[in-house]
Amino acid sequence: MQFNRRQSGQGKQFKRGGESAFPPERRGCAAMSPTILVTGAAGFIGSHTAQTLLARGDTVVGLDNLNEYYDPAGKQANLQELARSPGAAHFSFVRGDIRDRELGGRLCGQHEFVAVVHLAAMSGVRVSIENSHLYYDVNVNGTLTLVEAAREAQTPPLCLHRPPRPLAIPR
Ligand SMILES: NC(=O)c1ccc[n+]([C@@H]2O[C@H](COP(=O)([O-])OP(=O)(O)OC[C@H]3O[C@@H](n4cnc5c(N)ncnc54)[C@H](O)[C@@H]3O)[C@@H](O)[C@H]2O)c1
Repeated sequence: MQFNRRQSGQGKQFKRGGESAFPPERRGCAAMSPTILVTGAAGFIGSHTAQTLLARGDTVVGLDNLNEYYDPAGKQANLQELARSPGAAHFSFVRGDIRDRELGGRLCGQHEFVAVVHLAAMSGVRVSIENSHLYYDVNVNGTLTLVEAAREAQTPPLCLHRPPRPLAIPR
């Protein structure tokens, strides 16, 4: 995953075909500076990704529902570490679910996301066997919900998704 400040739009208005990708009411407002959305930001990969982006000067909004699939204390510890990281002043955290269409739309409307790094997932083989409906709902429907919210908000079409592991079929 390679972003730099220029690609991320940091410090300049994101352009598409020479025109701003955003409607006039979404331009030039300091409170809506270009930002990267990291889903699953309290998780293992998401928290490290957010840390790396912050360290190089990006602004990051982290989204995570802090579910209890594994000990949420570990996720809180990840968030605390993020809060102590270089660039932490440019990090904000939203507790919420990627399947929440209204929340996705609201976030995409509030921020000029130049990228979505989608790492929220029910990861791991165990959940895919024990709760395959939840696994499918989060990993497939949740991803679709997020993509649709970004598309409707005209978020530039840079959406990175590390797909979850394949569904394990128990014998
Ligand atoms: N950890 C690895 O070694 C590894 C290797 C290859 C791929 N991956 C993939 O990277 C992604 C992240 O993996 P991870 O190890 O960080 O997992 P993780 O479980 O540590 O993090 C996932 C995060 O997503 C959050 N989440 C789950 N459902 C959500 C929902 N509905 N809404 C909002 N947040 C939700 C969880 O609370 C958690 O914090 C997964 O797709 C995984 O398959 C991980």
